[in-house]
Amino acid sequence: MPQRPKLNRRHFVAATTVAAASAAAVRPSLAQSANETMNVAIIGAGGRGGSHVSAFLGNDKTRITHVVDIDPKAASQRAGQIEKEQGKRPEIVTDMRRVFDDASVDAISTATPNHWHALCGVWAMQAGKDCYIEKPICHNIAEGRALVEAAKKYKRICQVGTQSRSSAAVQEAVKFIAEGNIGEVKLARGLCYKRRKSIGPLGDYPIPEGIDFALWTGPATITDPKVTRQRFHYDWHWQRHYGNGDLGNQGPHQTDIARWGLGVDRHPEQIISYGGRLGYRAERKDPTYIDAGDTANTEVSIYDYGDKCLVFETRGLSVDNSADEELNKLFGSTKGNKIGVVFYGTDGYVVQKTYSHCIAYDKDMNVIKEFKGGGDHFGNFVDACNRRDTDVLNADAMTGHLSAGVSHLGNISYYLGEKNKASADQISEAVAKIPSLDDNQATLARTMQHLKDNGVDTNGSPLSLGPLLKFDPEAERFTNNDEANKMLTREYREGFVCPTGDKV
Ligand SMILES: NC(=O)c1ccc[n+]([C@@H]2O[C@H](COP(=O)([O-])OP(=O)(O)OC[C@H]3O[C@@H](n4cnc5c(N)ncnc54)[C@H](O)[C@@H]3O)[C@@H](O)[C@H]2O)c1
Repeated sequence: MPQRPKLNRRHFVAATTVAAASAAAVRPSLAQSANETMNVAIIGAGGRGGSHVSAFLGNDKTRITHVVDIDPKAASQRAGQIEKEQGKRPEIVTDMRRVFDDASVDAISTATPNHWHALCGVWAMQAGKDCYIEKPICHNIAEGRALVEAAKKYKRICQVGTQSRSSAAVQEAVKFIAEGNIGEVKLARGLCYKRRKSIGPLGDYPIPEGIDFALWTGPATITDPKVTRQRFHYDWHWQRHYGNGDLGNQGPHQTDIARWGLGVDRHPEQIISYGGRLGYRAERKDPTYIDAGDTANTEVSIYDYGDKCLVFETRGLSVDNSADEELNKLFGSTKGNKIGVVFYGTDGYVVQKTYSHCIAYDKDMNVIKEFKGGGDHFGNFVDACNRRDTDVLNADAMTGHLSAGVSHLGNISYYLGEKNKASADQISEAVAKIPSLDDNQATLARTMQHLKDNGVDTNGSPLSLGPLLKFDPEAERFTNNDEANKMLTREYREGFVCPTGDKV
């Protein structure tokens, strides 16, 4: 039987305080002996959890002692794999709080759904554990800030899973840009042209056998009906209660690289988004069809950083024929997915094509340099843990917070404007108001063409237009929209409230 959480919140706080004190007492010994093996608990043993398992199995400085999952099938499958390769079977745990209370655990590595990331990380750090947390590091802006503060307060090593930060190709390409090799770079375009089919009709589906749904839901409130998507795992990405759409799924890899290459270690000052969840009715030839997702599958977000600009384009419909000539040339393909970042310099371009391949072009699109090679992001985390030095990390909590923040801020504008269906002319007028170094009109025209190519009636007003939001990057508050400020956090379920501010 799956374990139900037995600790109430008061008990848990007391327990973690004790655990934090004892773990803090244990940890320095690890620093004194970099050869000591780190005990790691994997939290979330699904698709991505498998990569975490492989990474720690492949590192001779780590041992996987626990696998935590609310799905016993997922947990026992991973435990079997670990036992086979490591020799010793890890303990299977249902409730992550058990590993926070276990002083033998040095670090946790989490690949749960997004809505759990921050609470898991803050609880772990309060209990004295180092953390590797998947991207997006948080489900909302307040949670990202909480992780930054927790890492500082508890002096824990906290790495976010944007692995490009450890990739030789991307590191070298960013250095190439910083050295001025393509001139002045003020604009980056992130692309997530990644085909995403409908996740099936909105419905009332059974909770799969064995799953502890209360623990799966964690900090999110329990909805009625409880499960409205066909496939329980993974497809939560497209339901905003748990996920953040592709702007917050694939997006944080590219928003992170874009920020890095632009050299903007801060939040943007102005944001506007337009988009929609479109095309599935045309695809199914059923005008009444309601897909279970409620995040955008088509979204353009424009970010003003004062002297720099980032534009992010999300496309989930068929992406064949959907780019313009320039993007096709830069990515070297006319069809299929295009996932990457383009940096526009006064003397050329740099394109991040994959996690381990970037290309620099001159203004005439001649290749001037290629960058190849990956890296070991998990190894970088282990190294930082052993040295007890956050500066060793390639992607610390603040990096994760700022890059996930790009996604969250874009989505806030989109969600606020969701009911505001706008014509292409109205969107054109609105995007002209944001200081932007991009040709916003060309991006809009390309988006409309893409929808048309996918059978969406563009004569009407298929797209929703969000408000132009002004953001104070230091205070992390919007200055012109109270509703937007409410969306910097969420409504939490009792017992699973992510601590923020003094409560971190
Ligand atoms: N860095 C990357 O390249 C990369 C790639 C894929 C996914 N991810 C990230 O990894 C995360 C997981 O993605 P996925 O595709 O594996 O999703 P998934 O839904 O397939 O797997 C999530 C797993 O977490 C488990 N889980 C849920 N709540 C839990 C809880 N409270 N305690 C313990 N386990 C819990 C689920 O049962 C499931 O096994 C996402 O946040 C995603 O963004 C990162």
